[in-house]
Amino acid sequence: MRELEGKVAVVTGGSRGIGRATASELSRAGASVAVVARSRERAQGTVDGLDGPGEAFACDVSNPAQCADLMSAVADCLGPVDILVNNAGITRDNILIRLKDEDWQAVMDTNLRGAFNTTRAVARGMMKRRSGRIINIASVVGLTGNRGQANYAASKAGLVGFTKSVAQELAARGVLANVVAPGFIETDMTAELPEEAREGLAERIPLGRFGTPEDVAGAIRFLAGPAAAYITGQVLVVDGGMVM
Ligand code: NAI
Repeated sequence: MRELEGKVAVVTGGSRGIGRATASELSRAGASVAVVARSRERAQGTVDGLDGPGEAFACDVSNPAQCADLMSAVADCLGPVDILVNNAGITRDNILIRLKDEDWQAVMDTNLRGAFNTTRAVARGMMKRRSGRIINIASVVGLTGNRGQANYAASKAGLVGFTKSVAQELAARGVLANVVAPGFIETDMTAELPEEAREGLAERIPLGRFGTPEDVAGAIRFLAGPAAAYITGQVLVVDGGMVM
């Protein structure tokens, strides 16, 4: 089924991992995909693998002016944005007493402020057209907390509050906003975990394995499509049952 035929989707942090798998999945569903990364070259790598139309864009999501410019460039090139996936995210892990100001700020600026920057830049257009989907990628640690990730968990919990507020503000205009909260997914972000830690973690996952980027992309495709037309302000956890 190509349920997103004629739609324009923006995926931030699209050069690898969950973002890359999401761009491919939305493309398979028929959408034209704007792949966003800090480097246009790396975004192009994802675009080259798409089934349908796509375009690569450079943007640092923590920069509000770049996000505004990005959305007008996407509109000029592919058309107005129907689906926004805020996937760009970073970690700067450390225990609280060793967490530096710049590690706190960098994580907030990319993970939380980045979603605000891009969402504000598309909201007016979506409201005018009375349709749109905003999908923010948080994390189960935003729901549970995690030792050594106070900054990251706070940014992801913040995304949940942000999304629910946006969902309430924009619902009357036909714009839906939801969160996908992945558990442990096999990407560059989790590749550095030592083998011992991986085994320990897998034991805590009822489905017995880490997720794949495609597992998350499938949930995003669902929330972007017609089957999710009556769902807004929700958190969809994709974690193999780890957090119930
Ligand atoms: P990744 O590190 O493989 O990819 C992150 C992407 O974001 C990269 O393309 C990177 O270039 C981009 N990015 C980082 N800062 C950016 C900025 N300022 N502007 C634009 N792009 C920027 O990460 P992964 O694992 O694919 O994660 C994607 C999202 O899923 C992140 O928000 C992450 O927090 C979240 N997540 C990942 C989990 C995992 O286990 N891998 C678990 C839960 C959530």
